[in-house]
Amino acid sequence: MADKKPFRLLFVCLGNICRSPAAEGIMKKFVEDSGRSADFFIDSAGTADWHEGKFPDARMTRQGSKRGYNFDSIARQVRSEDFSNFDLILVMDQNNLREIRHFNPDGNLMHKVMLFTDFAINRSETQVPDPYYGGDDGFEQVLDILEDGCRELLVRL
Ligand code: 4NP
Repeated sequence: MADKKPFRLLFVCLGNICRSPAAEGIMKKFVEDSGRSADFFIDSAGTADWHEGKFPDARMTRQGSKRGYNFDSIARQVRSEDFSNFDLILVMDQNNLREIRHFNPDGNLMHKVMLFTDFAINRSETQVPDPYYGGDDGFEQVLDILEDGCRELLVRL
């Protein structure tokens, strides 16, 4: 039987140090735990380049490790090539949705972009809130939404 090409999934937030690396780490763990690692290529990026080259925010890493996740990706900015290289691009909020358009100026591949919360079917939030300037409870809320959405992604993809 011919090998199936892995499904290429990109998570996007603003800085690529809080929400999207957490989504990447959670989805990678879910995929591994279900024995489907070969079916997916998973990455994350930010619409801004402010934190390029950095590890995820220590507050997010700490909250994630309490739940058994390892968030260890290196921050990078979104690139125009991401639109052709990925099958699905999931953004965390409306600001990300607005900003990511700059990387696909003619809009021909914008159909690949969806809001992450479209998959978080058991949650009422319509965006994944930016936790950067808040307290630990904000990071917990982000993880709750991300776990719910990633569980659903695994079912649908
Ligand atoms: P993220 O969070 O977009 O989830 O990575 C943020 C990270 C950094 C900043 C804002 C949000 N910042 O202003 O530097």
